[in-house]
Amino acid sequence: MKCWFLWWLVFFVSHQHAEACSPPKKDCNTTEYPSSKCPGSCTNQCQKGDDPCCCINCVDNILENGSLDDTIKAIMELEDFMEEEKINGTDLATSSDNIVALQYEPNDTFVDLDIYASDNEDISYEPLPSSTVSVQLPRELNPGQNNTIVFLKLKWPETNQSILGSTYEVYDRALVGLSVEGKNISGLQQRVNITINLSKEIHETQKPSCHFFNFTTRNFSENGCITLWTRGRNNVTCSCDHLTYFAVLMVPASPSPKDQKILTYITLIGCSLSLFTLVITVLIFITNRKVREDVSMRVHINLVIALILLNLHFLLSSTVAAVSSTGLCLYMALVLHYSLLATFFWMALEGFHLYLLLVKVFNIYIKRYLLKLSVVGWGVPAVIVSVVVIIDRGFYGHVSLDTSNSNNTAICYITNNTVKMGTTVGPFILVFLFNMFMFGATIRRVWILRKSTEFGQSNRDRAKKDICTLLGVMTLLGITWGLVFFSFGHLTTVGLYLFCILNSLQGFFIFLWFMMSMRKAKTAVTKTSNENHSNST
Ligand SMILES: *[C@@H]1O[C@H](CO)[C@@H](O)[C@H](O)[C@H]1NC(C)=O
Ligand SMILES: *[C@@H]1O[C@H](CO)[C@@H](O)[C@H](O)[C@H]1NC(C)=O
Ligand SMILES: *[C@@H]1O[C@H](CO)[C@@H](O)[C@H](O)[C@H]1NC(C)=O
Ligand SMILES: *[C@@H]1O[C@H](CO)[C@@H](O)[C@H](O)[C@H]1NC(C)=O
Ligand SMILES: *[C@@H]1O[C@H](CO)[C@@H](O)[C@H](O)[C@H]1NC(C)=O
Ligand SMILES: *[C@@H]1O[C@H](CO)[C@@H](O)[C@H](O)[C@H]1NC(C)=O
Ligand SMILES: *[C@@H]1O[C@H](CO)[C@@H](O)[C@H](O)[C@H]1NC(C)=O
Ligand SMILES: *[C@@H]1O[C@H](CO)[C@@H](O)[C@H](O)[C@H]1NC(C)=O
Ligand SMILES: *[C@@H]1O[C@H](CO)[C@@H](O)[C@H](O)[C@H]1NC(C)=O
Ligand SMILES: *[C@@H]1O[C@H](CO)[C@@H](O)[C@H](O)[C@H]1NC(C)=O
Ligand SMILES: *[C@@H]1O[C@H](CO)[C@@H](O)[C@H](O)[C@H]1NC(C)=O
Ligand SMILES: *[C@@H]1O[C@H](CO)[C@@H](O)[C@H](O)[C@H]1NC(C)=O
Repeated sequence: MKCWFLWWLVFFVSHQHAEACSPPKKDCNTTEYPSSKCPGSCTNQCQKGDDPCCCINCVDNILENGSLDDTIKAIMELEDFMEEEKINGTDLATSSDNIVALQYEPNDTFVDLDIYASDNEDISYEPLPSSTVSVQLPRELNPGQNNTIVFLKLKWPETNQSILGSTYEVYDRALVGLSVEGKNISGLQQRVNITINLSKEIHETQKPSCHFFNFTTRNFSENGCITLWTRGRNNVTCSCDHLTYFAVLMVPASPSPKDQKILTYITLIGCSLSLFTLVITVLIFITNRKVREDVSMRVHINLVIALILLNLHFLLSSTVAAVSSTGLCLYMALVLHYSLLATFFWMALEGFHLYLLLVKVFNIYIKRYLLKLSVVGWGVPAVIVSVVVIIDRGFYGHVSLDTSNSNNTAICYITNNTVKMGTTVGPFILVFLFNMFMFGATIRRVWILRKSTEFGQSNRDRAKKDICTLLGVMTLLGITWGLVFFSFGHLTTVGLYLFCILNSLQGFFIFLWFMMSMRKAKTAVTKTSNENHSNST
């Protein structure tokens, strides 16, 4: 007796609970309600008095195979049907494989309505643990007692066909429709919020964007809809001031295809120019004995060589990736990673050298100074790359830069994001922070020196020289790379252009810096020799 009571209690309460928040559901199982048995075999579905399951299953068929015209017509007819046909007197959710349709008849005291729908076609007015779509309708909607609110969730089957002619991928291939019988709802003060849970990972090159389907123009539009989403959030909220059919389109993040093309050219030209001037720098270094003897120049030349490696392989990387030879790709990925790390480390060593030069002492007495620097600059990257290769050679390989585009722009690099973060972003953050500190120390030193020594020069000349020095030091230290930080890895279009221009030209700037230092060294030498000469005479 007691047991039964308990069972009753539990059952009844839970049943009551389900009753209270989930509308009664009519399951239009296609086995039980085959569309072939519908009157006219789906030629004239969703007419007044039709079986609701026929209407829904026929529309489902059209989603699968119908033309754009048929699809639009079917959706509008389904909407009208759900608005007008009082299917069973109460709220009712009918569902088939791909369609969830809900009629909600408000009573005269309409308060905000929330609708939650899950992928397995459950609908509720209260949060469901498994809900994938939730809709918040504002009180302002106030449909009136006789006007049904209709909620539709349409899901297209997995085919290659684009959805309603969209050029972009429609998230989850789903469309969420909202309407109120006999009313065109627009210009809402309090917006309707449609939240869609994102179960798939959003690729870096994509971002979700809320659109609605305009049945007049037959295309997707963003007007009146705000997309609330930041990278890393696992849901996207569409906040719209009207009721229609909403979809989340996966649009390209930041750079548009046009920008991407321009950026590709900028990178190509910048890297080629850098490569060319860097090679010249090396030639000058080799042929000029005086330059070769200067310790600073010897430090510079290591950075120059690292940059040559980086630029050369970067320029070739997409070509090699297209060749799709595994061995070549592995080599390319390895060298690219190695030269990138070497560039970072030599940038840090430039910072260190500058610090010793300017702040600590003017003469460096460190035994085998350059050898020690080289061990760090060339050795540590080699260790990092070796460790990665020893752990798993498969970490290097083809990486697609853009999954949204079937034109596979691939590059040979680190395939695993975790490894990439650990072995490139991590060292880079350390180098960047180190060099920021060095940069600060340099500026301070230059400031003090200038205050105490220079009188004669005109202000303009001095400012020009200072700016040049700072720009030179900045590129030398690679602080421009840090632009990535100020946007947390996701650059705005302007930031992206700046990053591309400055970094692809880094080699060129270093060439200029090299030439400048050479001239300075020359004048210093002539000055001292003149002094020596005058002294001796
Ligand atoms: C449809 O109904 C049939 C028999 O009633 C059942 O075997 C089948 O699993 C149902 N299909 C779905 C998708 O519920
Ligand atoms: C859609 O078309 C394909 C082939 O064109 C066919 O195999 C499939 O049965 C069709 N589906 C429906 C629901 O008519
Ligand atoms: C309304 O729905 C309930 C439960 O789904 C069912 O028992 C009842 O027969 C339906 N009434 C009509 C008129 O279809
Ligand atoms: C209208 O619905 C709300 C909640 O569903 C309920 O609390 C209220 O009593 C209803 N009003 C009438 C007049 O039925
Ligand atoms: C939708 O979200 C916006 C902003 O987050 C908020 O101002 C508005 O009240 C929300 N609407 C509803 C119906 O909750
Ligand atoms: C709602 O419909 C009933 C009968 O269908 C009608 O008597 C009533 O006036 C309608 N109410 C509104 C607000 O239109
Ligand atoms: C979809 O596209 C892929 C390749 O892009 C192709 O292999 C496949 O046959 C296509 N499927 C259909 C149903 O057209
Ligand atoms: C709503 O707009 C459609 C066209 O966009 C129009 O045909 C219809 O009459 C409008 N309905 C109302 C109630 O304004
Ligand atoms: C759909 O497009 C037409 C024509 O551009 C425009 O007048 C209408 O306002 C749009 N509908 C919505 C809901 O914005
Ligand atoms: C969306 O995600 C954010 C954080 O990921 C969470 O705070 C919020 O509650 C979620 N909203 C819904 C409706 O699930
Ligand atoms: C893909 O490549 C083809 C030709 O190779 C080109 O016509 C098309 O515009 C490209 N698509 C994209 C999105 O770049
Ligand atoms: C990357 O590698 C780590 C360590 O082997 C592994 O735990 C992780 O799942 C990998 N990530 C991907 C996306 O393959």
